[in-house]
Amino acid sequence: MNKKIISIAIDGPAGAGKSTIAKSISSKLGILYLDTGAMYRAVALKANRENIDTKNKDELSKLVKSIDIKVIYSHGEQKVYLDGEDVTAHIRTPEVSLGASNVATVPDVRIKMVELQREIASDNSVVMDGRDIGTYVLPKADVKIFLTADVKERAKRRYSEQVLKGVTNITLEAVLEDIEYRDKNDSSREFAPLSKASDAIEIDTTNMKIEEVVNTILEYVNNYV
Ligand code: CDP
Repeated sequence: MNKKIISIAIDGPAGAGKSTIAKSISSKLGILYLDTGAMYRAVALKANRENIDTKNKDELSKLVKSIDIKVIYSHGEQKVYLDGEDVTAHIRTPEVSLGASNVATVPDVRIKMVELQREIASDNSVVMDGRDIGTYVLPKADVKIFLTADVKERAKRRYSEQVLKGVTNITLEAVLEDIEYRDKNDSSREFAPLSKASDAIEIDTTNMKIEEVVNTILEYVNNYV
């Protein structure tokens, strides 16, 4: 007999802890983790490589028609392929972050990415993180979480993450600026903006440890299944 497919949607702004928490939940439950932001990042990378302004909506609508983005799982890790090339290691730069937020305002871009996201969720149990998962991509998700945290705390987390990775040419102020820009851009766009679904559970992670957040979410999941 087939086991029921479950879907968990985790939305929220940059640095709220979505990816760390979603990864932990996916490994504890043995289900897929889909980082949807990586897909918008791959579109931005392609635009940057082709010298297309990420604010040029017409050019981006054209670009996305011929783009080939694939999400592949290797040893439990998500890899993103852009036109056949593994770009997983190239999509975390500040330029790509900013570009991703810009390309994500273009409806044609979103429609194409969402199609792929829904396809993955249609035959796999999944924990998906992003900005519009509970409101638009998977409106019938079994559990919906909206993660938030104070913007200064989010900037500190993102900055430390980058420093740990060995990135040296950044400042806390620049990271804060990037996050504030994206928060505004993501929340104010017309098509599928960042917002809390009316049936989502909001968790403010400012003063919470990762383990606490994971356990809180797992309790909701256990109550559901
Ligand atoms: O990891 P971080 O929160 O910094 O960003 P991300 O999740 O990789 O997303 C990068 C950008 O893609 C965001 O700033 C959003 O503009 C966009 N995005 C989106 O619009 N919808 C999603 N479902 C996921 C990301």
